Order: sequence, then structure tokens, then C-alpha cells
Amino acid sequence: MDYFRYRHGLLHCEDVSVSDLAKAHGTPLYVYSTRTIVEHFRKVRDAFSRIPTLVCYSIKANSGLSILNLLRKEGAGFDVVSEGELRRALAAGADPKTCVFAGVGKREEEVRFALSKGILLFDVESADELRLIDRLATEMGIVAPVALRLNPDVDPQTHTYITTGKRENKFGIDLTVAASLVREMRSWKGVRLVGLHIHIGSQIVKVEPYVQALTRVVDFMAACREAGHKLEMLDMGGGFGIFYKEKTAPPVTEFADAVTPLVLRSGCRLVLEPGRFIVGNAGVMLTQVQYIKESGDLRFVICDAGMNDLIRPSLYGAYHRIWPATTDPSHEGEAPDEERWSGETVKSEVVGPICESGDFFAHERRLPRVGPGELLVVFSAGAYGYCMASNYNSHRRPAEVLVSGTASAVITGRETYEDLMRNERLVDLPRP
Ligand code: LLP
Repeated sequence: MDYFRYRHGLLHCEDVSVSDLAKAHGTPLYVYSTRTIVEHFRKVRDAFSRIPTLVCYSIKANSGLSILNLLRKEGAGFDVVSEGELRRALAAGADPKTCVFAGVGKREEEVRFALSKGILLFDVESADELRLIDRLATEMGIVAPVALRLNPDVDPQTHTYITTGKRENKFGIDLTVAASLVREMRSWKGVRLVGLHIHIGSQIVKVEPYVQALTRVVDFMAACREAGHKLEMLDMGGGFGIFYKEKTAPPVTEFADAVTPLVLRSGCRLVLEPGRFIVGNAGVMLTQVQYIKESGDLRFVICDAGMNDLIRPSLYGAYHRIWPATTDPSHEGEAPDEERWSGETVKSEVVGPICESGDFFAHERRLPRVGPGELLVVFSAGAYGYCMASNYNSHRRPAEVLVSGTASAVITGRETYEDLMRNERLVDLPRP
């Protein structure tokens, strides 16, 4: 369920017309629905309400400060993977005791920063990292709470690039290595093993991979307890998928029902790290059609947004629903399904301005016949959209607007050309 609906053929985000937002703030523009974000957060929280659970929103999915603030007020903790993300969480008012820190390549200064803030948990991804945390914490005279991120070697049945729990992935610690580490670390002074962590991948729409992975983790807990560690936390990561075509998600209760018995068996408090599930369907990207170019049987719809603004189609071949912001005036409700639209459609290549053939949003997509100046909506762009945007081809990154009911506010201003060159120095070294 989301709150993007057509009223008399005009797309609204909650009670605000997206065309009005584009007029006021320009394009490309990301627009988010507060209500959709909050409802998805509550769906996760409620689905797991039978077990003590901390829902740590995964900042990487959409790291806007106002969105973090909104989720903090809902009771979310945060999953961070860098000092930058931790600083964002703190800037949004997060209590460090609700922040967990994952990532395979934490740098020494990042670990030191997180230690100094007293975060809830370090999700440790290698023996080397564990040694580093132990040394730094000892130097600082503190004990770091750690969870080992295990690599359970389970296939989450998603895109290879976002599969993280298979043996060949760089993430997590092999179970055999972890078993000896658990024994070895008993005598270490700077770290306390308080839990285990997994994150097997993203955009997962099946329950079985979680059950398989968690079964391995819960079995592994016995070895940890035998070695004298008192485990309190089971962090099962994120990954709950959404349906990009239908603009919905599998009910999170299915995941909850399947894993609850395992969590109860573990005797631990559960930590979750959902990102996409919470924000994915809560955002759209608006882009204006610049030109139409006909070429044989191809019709290129050239937009002002490109792969630099939303990279998912180029990088993962991801499908995003696309439709004009203004459609048939009799149309009410959800974005029409292009396969079932009764009006005229034409096969379109929806592309951007970037100088790469990989710069596209859709191939051979049936769309109404749009022309220059018209506004297109790329749906389900709330997760891994703006936060993966770049300045490639020296385009400015777009603006972001958050809507709540009839209210709306810019939460990220459009970059300026000064921003674009801010860190550069025009130096003139001698020429050979
Ligand atoms: N926890 C950890 C340790 C993660 O690495 C991730 C995502 C999450 C939680 C949140 O996963 P989610 O609930 O959002 O699936 N750019 C890709 C997705 C990359 C996911 C990276 N890690 C995309 O656009 O599909």
C-alpha cells in the first residue's frame, strides 16, 4: 500500500499534486510520502511484536535527515555502514545505543568514532576487523559490544550484485573461521561477544532463505555459549523485498511467522535492518520529457533525469513502473498497468541525457504517447534512488521533497553549479 494515487487523471502524493511540486521545485525531483514510510515501518514493527525486537532502519536505502528523523520518532534504531551514516543518524537525533554498525571495510578512524559514541553493536565481518576493534577499545579503556556477521552460505534468490550470504560473497565470516574465533576471543579484553549477525541479501521475496540461514545461526549459538559467551542479540539483517511491478510488498508477517520460532529458540532479542521495505514504495522520481526521437520502429523518450539520478535500471536491469503524471482525466487510483491500459500506448525507450547507452529507465515499454514538456513518474524509487545519485556528466544532483497530507517541504535542495565544483582547485602546474 502506498499513497500515490491519480485523482481525475492527476497523480497525487497524499493530497499534493506532483505536477505542482515539479512546477515549484523543478525536475528531476524525488517526492516521498510520509504516510507510506510510517505505515511500512509500523508493518515491520507490528509483525514482529511477539518477540522483543529493535527495528534498525538501514540508512543506506535512503539517508535523508528528515526521513531518519521521522523514523526515529517512530521508534526506529539505525543500521549504519560508515562513519558518515552514523553521523547522519546522530544529526537526526538518534541515540547511539540504537545504532548498529556493519560493513566489510570499516576504517580505523571510523571504528574509533563509533566506539567514542558508544553504539549498540559492531557487526564484525572478519577476524582482522575483530582484532582492530579489540585493540582500539582496549586503548580507549572500554569494551566494545560485538556480533560476528556469519556467512551462512545460503542463496537468497535475488540479483547477484545484492546477494551477500553465499560463500563466494565478501560478506560475513565463514562458520569454521568463526568457530575458532569464538574460542580465541574469550580472553580478549576489548570486545564482548553479545550476538550474531547475518544479512543474506536484498530484495528477497521468499521466506525459506531466511529460515535456512537463521537455522544455521541458531545452531552456531550453541558453540558460542559453550565457549562462555552470553548472547543477547540476534541481528537478522534486512532484505525484505518489494514488488516493483505491483508497487506492493509481500506481507512482512510471512517473514515474521517463519522466523519467530527460531528467534524464540535463540533466547535473544531480535535486531532487524530493513531499508527498501520501508522506503521503496514511498518515493517516486519525477522527470520531464525533453525530446522525442523516432528512429525506425524505435521511439526514444529523452528525459531530463538519467542514470546519474536513478541508477537501478542501468546497474541491475531493475524494473520501475513509469507513467505520465497527467493521464486520462477519468483515471482514478493506482498508476495504470501498461499491459492493461485501454487507451493508446506506444512502445517507448525511456532514456536519459547521459552519454552512455546504458543510460535508460525502460526498454520497449508501452506508454501513452507523451511529448516534450510532459512529466513522467518513475515509481518505487524511494530506496536506493537519490542516495545512489552521482554528478556524472557534471549534472547537479536533484532535489527531494517530503509530503505529509496537504503539506510538503524540500528536504534536500537541488545542487548548485557552485556545489559541483566546491572541492576543486584550479591548479596550474608547470607543463613539461
Ligand atoms: N543490512 C545490511 C548489512 C545491508 O548491507 C543492507 C543492504 C541492508 C541491511 C538493507 O537491505 P534492504 O532491507 O534495503 O534490502 N542498491 C541495491 C541494494 C543494495 C543493498 C545493500 N545492502 C538496489 O538498489 O537494489
